[in-house]
Order: sequence, then structure tokens, then C-alpha cells
Amino acid sequence: MAERLLEVTDLSTHFFTHAGVVKAVNGVSFTLDRQETLGIVGESGSGKTVAALSVMRLIPDPPGKIVEGSLMLRGRDLRALSDDEMRQVRGNDIAMIFQDPMTSLNPVFKIGDQIAEAIMLHQDKGKDEAWRLAAELLERVGIPDAKNRVKQYPFEFSGGMRQRAMIAMAISCNPDILIADEPTTALDVTIQAQIIDVMREMQTQYHSGVILITHDLGVVAEIADKVMVMYGGRTVEYGPVDEIYYNPHHPYTWGLLGSLPRLDLAEKHRLEPIKGQPPDLLLLPPGCPFVGRCAFELPPCRERWPEHEEVGPGHGVHCWIPNDQRLETRAGLPRFKEWVA
Ligand SMILES: Nc1ncnc2c1ncn2[C@@H]1O[C@H](COP(=O)(O)OP(=O)(O)OP(=O)(O)O)[C@@H](O)[C@H]1O
Ligand SMILES: [Mg+2]
Repeated sequence: MAERLLEVTDLSTHFFTHAGVVKAVNGVSFTLDRQETLGIVGESGSGKTVAALSVMRLIPDPPGKIVEGSLMLRGRDLRALSDDEMRQVRGNDIAMIFQDPMTSLNPVFKIGDQIAEAIMLHQDKGKDEAWRLAAELLERVGIPDAKNRVKQYPFEFSGGMRQRAMIAMAISCNPDILIADEPTTALDVTIQAQIIDVMREMQTQYHSGVILITHDLGVVAEIADKVMVMYGGRTVEYGPVDEIYYNPHHPYTWGLLGSLPRLDLAEKHRLEPIKGQPPDLLLLPPGCPFVGRCAFELPPCRERWPEHEEVGPGHGVHCWIPNDQRLETRAGLPRFKEWVA
């Protein structure tokens, strides 16, 4: 059995704002083993980034707080660590490629300074050596003329190159866990390919575990071992990638897959938005957040959140539709399309 790197159990992260409590993540659980890739999918605002930032303990407090749950990194309780210890973890054990590269590159320092600093902070290297490594890393992530580029400032880099610089910084310490919060903007198709190449390399070379956050189900089909489908701050379905694609149990997952051109090919394709509005996280019903958009609502859906139900090995779902009716319901959908009211 591969080593368990990360175990997140019943994580809830809320933001206490003037308007009310934003329940961004509610009771989310997942695990990551060595050399495994977990894809986290779900529409905008479903809590993917907040879940990842919680693992990194980078939730801005105030207004945010991890209100519940445990975060275990190779048996170490991350919630019990001091800020200093957590900083060490972030450099050495877990690294994150952020959705917005400008939030983590400092505009007043050269790119090389920033990567070299990350290297010197976590490895016993001198400045010259760290700069040399920084240039090497930039080259590895596909920045042409890296030797000279390393001396430039972030504003001299294009958006895509900044993203690559971020990747270089993230992998500079060969972390056990790499979290890639994929940019959702259209400009980033090549960056996406780049991120995926780097992740593959990290996995073969260093046996890292990878968490890929994405809107792109095609990419997930291609590289993930397992998938967590999020909706309204909840995990609605979680399981091995083949189970999620060929035996999905949640109506929201059906909706996501219905927007793919061919299930068996699962070509690169952006998710079509499912009809209806995402839930207001300030006014979540006590039950399933997908009520209102789900065509199969049953009496308990609004009132109670369904328990986790195991429907296959490592495959779990939260849904009130009885298991034996679920597949029948799904089979009646015209290729999963136009199924939602
Ligand atoms: N600092 C904050 N204060 C208040 N609410 C926040 C804060 N950060 C995030 N949220 C809320 O938490 C919810 C989940 O946001 P999150 O960024 O995790 O979504 P996401 O799934 O990553 O979406 P996207 O695909 O657009 O990146 C959103 O409703 C967001 O407004
Ligand atoms: Mg996000």
C-alpha cells in the first residue's frame, strides 16, 4: 500500500462576514496517497480553493476560520502546529500553485530573488547556488532564455510566464504534496499542459502526491486517480476516476458529465454551466445545497443533508435518491443532457 500523505476529515471552513456566515466548506473529507492524483472539480464558488487553502492553513483570519475537522499530514496534526512549524510544512512538505499568480509574486523583487529565497529558506544553499537553481527551475518549466529571464521583475513576465514562475517556486523544494489550483481563465490552455507535465515529473521523480483543482473534466479523466466533486461547499461525490465517469451516482455529477462531448473520450472540454444559479452560501438550506437545481428533488432533500453512502470500493455519494433507483434515473437521461429543469 502506498504511504498515506494526507487525511482530511470533516473539514469545515467558514467566513464570518458582516453579511453573515459564509459556509464555504462543510464537512469535507478526502485522502491523498503517495504518487496519487486527486482531482477536485466543481463550479465557481463551490469551495475548492478554500478547501485547499485550509490544508495550507492560509485562510485569512479574520474573517475566515477552520471551524471543524482534522488535517493530518503523514500522521502529523496540522491544526496543532504553530505558525512557524506550519511555515516549514508549506516549504518542505506541501506546496501550492495559486490560482492568481500575482497574489504570490512580489512585484518589487526580481523573479530570481523570489525563487532563490524560497530555496534558501528550506535548503542549505548559498545565494549563488540558489540563483543557479532558480534559473534551472525556470528552464524546467519552459521559460525560454531562463538565464536572463531570472533577472527580470514580475511585470516583465506575461501572465503565463508568471504562472510558470509560480510553478518553479512551488516545486523548488520537491514537496511531498503539490496542490495546483488551476487558473480558470481561457488564456491558460498551454499553462495547463505545463502544470500537468510538471506534476507528472514530480510524481515519477519524487513520488509526490498531487491535488489538481480544475473546471476541466477532460484533464481530470486523463490524469487523476480519483475525483472529488464539490457543490455548495459540500462533497457530493467522491471516488476512483473510472467510477465517477462511468458509474456516477449524484445528479450534479450527471450534470457535469452531461456537458462532456463523449463520455468515453472525455476530450478536453470546458464544463458547460448547469442551468440555474449556484446557491447563496449565506442562505444554504440545512439539506442538500443542490436543491433548487436538481430535477429529482425528494421530500428530505431540503431538510437534511444525506449521510455518506458507500456505493463501490472507495466510491461515496451523498444523495437522497435511493441507490436502486439512481442508476435507473440516470439511464433515463438523454445522454445526461438537458436533464435539469
Ligand atoms: N476571504 C473571504 N471572505 C468571505 N468569503 C470568502 C472569502 N474567500 C472565499 N470566500 C467565499 O467562499 C466560497 C468558496 O470560494 P472558493 O474560492 O473556494 O471557490 P472555488 O470553488 O475555488 O471557485 P473558483 O472555481 O471560481 O475558483 C465563495 O462563496 C467565496 O465567496
Ligand atoms: Mg478557486
